[in-house]
Amino acid sequence: MINNKSLLDDESNVLAETARIKYFNIVIDSGKGAIIKDIEGNEYIDLLASASAVNTGHAHPHVVAAIQKQAAKLIQYTPAYFANTPAAKLAQRLCKLAPISGPKKMFWGNSGSDANDGIIKLARAYTKRPYLVSFMGAYHGATYGSLSLSAVSLNMTRKIGPLLPDVVKVPYPDPWQRTKNESEEDFVARMFAEFKRPFETFLPAEETALIIIEPIQGDGGIVKAPVEFIRKVADFAHKNGILFAVDEVNQGLGRTGKWWSIQHFGVEPDLMSVGKSLASGLPLSAVIGRTEIMDSLDAPAHLFTTSGNPVTTAAAMATLDVIENEKLVQRSALLGTEVEAFFKAEQAKHSFIGQCRIYGLNGGIDIIDPVTHKPDGLAATKLIYRIFKLGAIIISLKTNILRFQPPLVITEEQLHQAFKIIAQAFSELEEGRLALPANADDIGW
Ligand SMILES: Cc1ncc(COP(=O)(O)O)c(C=O)c1O
Repeated sequence: MINNKSLLDDESNVLAETARIKYFNIVIDSGKGAIIKDIEGNEYIDLLASASAVNTGHAHPHVVAAIQKQAAKLIQYTPAYFANTPAAKLAQRLCKLAPISGPKKMFWGNSGSDANDGIIKLARAYTKRPYLVSFMGAYHGATYGSLSLSAVSLNMTRKIGPLLPDVVKVPYPDPWQRTKNESEEDFVARMFAEFKRPFETFLPAEETALIIIEPIQGDGGIVKAPVEFIRKVADFAHKNGILFAVDEVNQGLGRTGKWWSIQHFGVEPDLMSVGKSLASGLPLSAVIGRTEIMDSLDAPAHLFTTSGNPVTTAAAMATLDVIENEKLVQRSALLGTEVEAFFKAEQAKHSFIGQCRIYGLNGGIDIIDPVTHKPDGLAATKLIYRIFKLGAIIISLKTNILRFQPPLVITEEQLHQAFKIIAQAFSELEEGRLALPANADDIGW
């Protein structure tokens, strides 16, 4: 009989180490809505949503039907040479949805990573300048370009340098940078001064092509920059002829309770990248931006054989239908308030819960040492493992942050069941009843 262990053992003989961040030893076999089932038939509430790539839930019937219908008609003809019906329609729909006023255009990719590479190419081509600015804690992807913009994991950069030249990383105004008793205004002023320091010492603004940011960092810990900070950065960019781009791959498409995370800030980007949930997890990404920028590259400067594939774009059309018809953006905002209330109530009970940052159905919950208030990765590992044993999948970021990102279609009953499980794990940790799993050293980023 095939079980989780036998299949994983066999797979481990051939799967390279780099191909999986280890968490729990299961093989996922099927999914429906917010529930996933492993190969042995065990069910879990999915609080990860395939890394925010299935906002519409697993196997949504409307998305499945669209994929099946399109697959029977035309699986692939490369959009590099000829248009296909769903891609041609989706391109218009996506441009309408983007939070950029004025004429817009877009192009396709297969992943968030290559979309961000596209942004780099566009920025350099349009501005004819070399330098790129990104933020500490950012994750923009694993290709050389997008990885060069990222700053979240040493394992990603170790052994493979040199990365892309002329990338400058500036501090992200995450809440851990804020000093005790510092007002938000002072914090923003201090972080903006730090942001500007490179431009005053070694980085000529007039030679800088791009500032790219996740307005709410995903893998960095679900961390929202102060509104005023983002406004100042965007303003600085525009005053200096630098393009301002936002990465919506993780936090877009309703995840934060708005269509796009940048809409929390009242700022318009010049360029944006979208991926993950766009086609309910089928490999499809896009870059959308102001027309004059998007037209600064000639074909085939950024083309892939399968990007804009008919099946993925049909799935994306259906995904947007579901988000609209089931009001998932509003649902994310509404249920997010319940999630916030839950974690804040737990925080009041347990001193190992630090900050809880909840923006829609989207949260980062810090697990800390109650005495030192330092990150407690081991406690977080005990928690996620116990939660897994109790029937829900949640993972950690930066070792000590619980990443709460269920599909936006999660039912209230499932959400409440998840709360129950998490509350039980918290209580058991408080009582000293949780042990580390045998593979604790392997777990996590
Ligand atoms: C914000 C952000 N950008 C880009 C990426 C890269 O996307 P992909 O893994 O599809 O290449 C990710 C993936 O986690 C992400 O969270």
